[in-house]
Amino acid sequence: MAEQQLKAKVTIDREFKIGDIDKRLYGSFIEHLGRAVYGGIYELNHPDSTEQGFRTDVIELVKELQVPIVRYPGGNMVSAYNWEDGVGPVSERPKKLELAWRVVEPNYIGTNEFADWAKLANTEVMMAVNLGTRGIDAARNLLEYCNHPSGSYWSDLRRSHGYKEPHKFKTWCLGNEMDGPWQVGHKTADEYGRLALETAKAMRLVDPTIELVACGSSNANMPTFPEWEATTLEHTYEEVDYLSLHQYYGNRSGDTANYLAKTLEMDDFIKTVTATCDYIKAKKRSKKTMHLSFDEWNVWFHSNQADQEIEPWSIAPPQLEDVYTFEDALLVGSILMTLVRHADRVKMACMAQLVNVIAPIMTETGGSAWKQTIFYPYMHVSIFGRGTSLKPVISSPKYDSKDFTDVPYLDSAVVWNEEKDELTIFLLNRHLQDALDLTIDVRSFEEYKLKEHIVLENDDLKAVNTVRQEAVKPHSNGDASLDKGTICTHLSKASWNVIRLGK
Ligand code: AHR
Repeated sequence: MAEQQLKAKVTIDREFKIGDIDKRLYGSFIEHLGRAVYGGIYELNHPDSTEQGFRTDVIELVKELQVPIVRYPGGNMVSAYNWEDGVGPVSERPKKLELAWRVVEPNYIGTNEFADWAKLANTEVMMAVNLGTRGIDAARNLLEYCNHPSGSYWSDLRRSHGYKEPHKFKTWCLGNEMDGPWQVGHKTADEYGRLALETAKAMRLVDPTIELVACGSSNANMPTFPEWEATTLEHTYEEVDYLSLHQYYGNRSGDTANYLAKTLEMDDFIKTVTATCDYIKAKKRSKKTMHLSFDEWNVWFHSNQADQEIEPWSIAPPQLEDVYTFEDALLVGSILMTLVRHADRVKMACMAQLVNVIAPIMTETGGSAWKQTIFYPYMHVSIFGRGTSLKPVISSPKYDSKDFTDVPYLDSAVVWNEEKDELTIFLLNRHLQDALDLTIDVRSFEEYKLKEHIVLENDDLKAVNTVRQEAVKPHSNGDASLDKGTICTHLSKASWNVIRLGK
């Protein structure tokens, strides 16, 4: 029987604008968890570390990703964290039981050191305050410590700790996943909404220039979703700038076709949260439009079993160390494209996390830093995905999977960087056996030329990278060609593609 020819088409036009992309859409996350901080960004005795103990090999990889913002210090950890434990002379800092992950927190790294690291890594800090065990007072004091220039108790304390200039952190999260019963200090939506509102008011009095993120649901499967969002916003709508979304994905049943379709669910999640925000906007007769911060997303399931076996109360054990497969990289590409297509409302997002903990970057203690499979789609979209998101009109054959119907084999997002005169087309072929015969109409970019066709492909969906061998890495030998405003290409089975045009 002749091999089936699967044909797909994308039409792109410079007038089909979705919205401007905030560079913070490509953020990430470092929590005091596992080996993210200790043994990740920080390893005092590593040969490649700075005098302060920051691994320069890790910093180089973070710079390769061009991460614009990093959320800190948690995560679940922040809900029982006393920020004061992490400032001042390191020798005087207490070792504390860290309740979220049941480890010992030595507090060698705290707010000031993380600000130093962020400068070295050329990134901004997205701070989170503890609304679990603490509240308004601790939050406004931390903000005064970080952002007030001088002449007050907390700002002068920062200066006495050697930081004369304020950190000027702009983006602040009002707690973390407060809807989750696992959270220390878990709250009902009304309890959280009231506390978030009053904390926001106090924080804005300290520094009116900050932007605030209220907690949405921990994931779309929470029984309180989306009532949590509605109630939280009933309280906070006029005082906050963003509402958060969190979601992790996994392929526990080994059903790749179904796994790669999970971004359809993510798309629905974003649409439901957007609709909920707009419902509250209408109810309040507000002129303000709420933006979204998808500040935790990734694949997380490979390490679940191993984490059950970790003994409590050690320092920086290897927790949540997922080793990612090629198919995980494909899903990560699709997640990033979903975010780009919602760039009008989703202004910030964080791949959770950045180093060692469900991360694109891994380290060996005393050894090398290396790239997981998911590093590559993240790097491509972060680097080439700056500008305006354009709506691709997609015509593609479809399939049904266990949980989804009408899944297009072709997934795509398009970014036009008008300043640099660059057009980037991101593409995923979800078909696991066949190539897609694709044409792309780019007639409205007639003065542009084809620059590069990057492909991430592998015959083994379960291929992984290790410190010694990079089995999954992209090449630039894609077969795209451009003639009279039409790009022709074959997207190989199960592949991630980046087609770049420019003048
Ligand atoms: O990123 C790991 C954890 O996932 C975070 O601490 C928490 O916010 C989420 O549940």
